[in-house]
Amino acid sequence: MPTFSIATLHRLGCEILQKAGTNTDDANIVVDELLDANLVGHDSHGVIRLKQYVDSIGAGEIKPGAEIQTVLSTPGITVIDGNFNFGQVVAARALERGQEEASKNGTHTVLCRNTNHVGRLGSYTRKAAMEGFATLMAVNGPANFSVIPWGGLDPRLGTNPISMAAPWKEDPLVLDMTTSATAEGKIRVATQAGESIPEGLIVDELGNSATDPNAFYQGGAILPLGGALGFKGYGLGVMLDIFCGVLSGAGVAREDVTPSSNGVWLQIIDINQVVSDHDYESMMNKYVEWIKSSRTAPGVEEILLPGEIESQRRAHHNEKGISLSDGTWNQMKELADSFHVALPD
Ligand SMILES: NC(=O)c1ccc[n+]([C@@H]2O[C@H](COP(=O)([O-])OP(=O)(O)OC[C@H]3O[C@@H](n4cnc5c(N)ncnc54)[C@H](O)[C@@H]3O)[C@@H](O)[C@H]2O)c1
Repeated sequence: MPTFSIATLHRLGCEILQKAGTNTDDANIVVDELLDANLVGHDSHGVIRLKQYVDSIGAGEIKPGAEIQTVLSTPGITVIDGNFNFGQVVAARALERGQEEASKNGTHTVLCRNTNHVGRLGSYTRKAAMEGFATLMAVNGPANFSVIPWGGLDPRLGTNPISMAAPWKEDPLVLDMTTSATAEGKIRVATQAGESIPEGLIVDELGNSATDPNAFYQGGAILPLGGALGFKGYGLGVMLDIFCGVLSGAGVAREDVTPSSNGVWLQIIDINQVVSDHDYESMMNKYVEWIKSSRTAPGVEEILLPGEIESQRRAHHNEKGISLSDGTWNQMKELADSFHVALPD
């Protein structure tokens, strides 16, 4: 697998997006988000997405530079219409607005519609947590029906992820998870790498358990999170469709939606306004110590907190660079060639 420095991939990604019609600032925002996903080991949300985004620009689904409009603004809630600009660019604006308003009012809700794929939620919640905000972000995937309802055979929901982050020392605690058994991107990564996937993530079109990732793209579906208790993941997915899709106006069912969009729900709390820094820090320290003091099961070295595995991977990849699968690298080379962007030596 070829390995690159962050700077090399950043230059390449930005030039490709700029040649595809994106302004420099927005290309930087998008590529920063993609590379952050690679850094923390979620290659499914990394530069593998560049081709998808370039294709979406070509199809008119992503509209680089489209005006991001605030359609409702009260002290408690902001509703944003992204007009199909890049999801990352709309989400960055939403985060900025949410933090500004939460600083004034203690908390703020932001909902976004007509927003393309925002990428990895944990990146946004972590950023806000690093500024002292307890943050929840969830999205629905209104146009990407890939998950079956509990007991069903036909996909009716997106993978509808949720992330929650809370400040702690230099690196916040960050939960970031799909409400489905897997993210679609992870099936895509396995397909590109020619690998099988674990049992219990997808079914084929007849509802039989499958480990060949291609079964998903041949009429199969992703299972809700929870295995035998999948009705819980399914229930969470449904409620996130309502909070992210119905409340924002992004949509929930095939006839009300446009391709590739994410409906966004962002909830930000200014911690300082509800608990003193001293009390927060001391309670968190005690809590983390308490969790980590559990005896470990055989074969487990350390109890990890939400987001800790990503922090460890970030440190590793910052030092060693990012390795791309041959499939992803070949795709990037083709993109670069098609836009006459120079490849790294
Ligand atoms: N924008 C979209 O439409 C969209 C859709 C789906 C998924 N996503 C993104 O896909 C990414 C992948 O989601 P996922 O559900 O596959 O993530 P995952 O299963 O890899 O991780 C889920 C959570 O579990 C934690 N975790 C992992 N191993 C752990 C361990 N050993 N101990 C303790 N905690 C541990 C992680 O820190 C993370 O918070 C997320 O970043 C999500 O935001 C985005």
